[in-house]
Amino acid sequence: MPKIDVCLSPELIHLFDIKEKVVVIIDILRATSTICSILNNGAKEVIPVPDLEKAKKYLRKGYIVGAERGGKTIDGFSYGNSPFDYPSEVVKDKSIVLTTSNGTKALHLSKDADQILIGSFLNLNEIVNKIKTINKDCLLFCAGWKGHFSLEDSCCAGALVHYLSEHFELCSDSGIVTKDLYLQYKNDLMVMIKKSAHFKRLNHFGVNKDFDLCITQNLFNQVPFWNGSSIMLG
Ligand code: MLT
Repeated sequence: MPKIDVCLSPELIHLFDIKEKVVVIIDILRATSTICSILNNGAKEVIPVPDLEKAKKYLRKGYIVGAERGGKTIDGFSYGNSPFDYPSEVVKDKSIVLTTSNGTKALHLSKDADQILIGSFLNLNEIVNKIKTINKDCLLFCAGWKGHFSLEDSCCAGALVHYLSEHFELCSDSGIVTKDLYLQYKNDLMVMIKKSAHFKRLNHFGVNKDFDLCITQNLFNQVPFWNGSSIMLG
């Protein structure tokens, strides 16, 4: 039986050998939820970039570029990290460049993995089906916040552990604790979100509809994957 494990923060990723693994990046508020939304709204691809310098280069070339740090859109960029910044009128058939505080960094830390998938509550069932079909050792990688644990990413990792537990061997305590976390909140994810540190950070920016969207389970039925240069729907 393949194994499943959870990395609770980018600071812990060095403890895992990811080379032969399927890695699922999870940044519920909001990078991976936003990437799923951008692609489901018809974008051709999302190009994740780790730093603002690269983002500015794409901006100068005329790309649509989203740039967020600390939850806010960076001055000089027209788009941030809200899924509502990217309706289909804006993104249809376009390449969207995105740089965020933690999510796009976690992606770049996973570049040696065998396959890299984008996970969120929005595509939960399809991620479960995809991981079952691939049937390889899998690491659920929570993007967290500046190296710290985050409740909402861990809760989503726990949902995946829960729905995959009959098919994968759970090989660490982080899998157990995240699964218990999901089971505690699964019928009201908003209760969990409102307790989270990132809710408190973002709540000042009046992004309430982002919270509602980011905890919606199974709105989308495709799984984005990263090929090392762009993220596309699989
Ligand atoms: C991140 O990448 O850290 C986040 O998605 C931050 C945000 O909520 O915009």
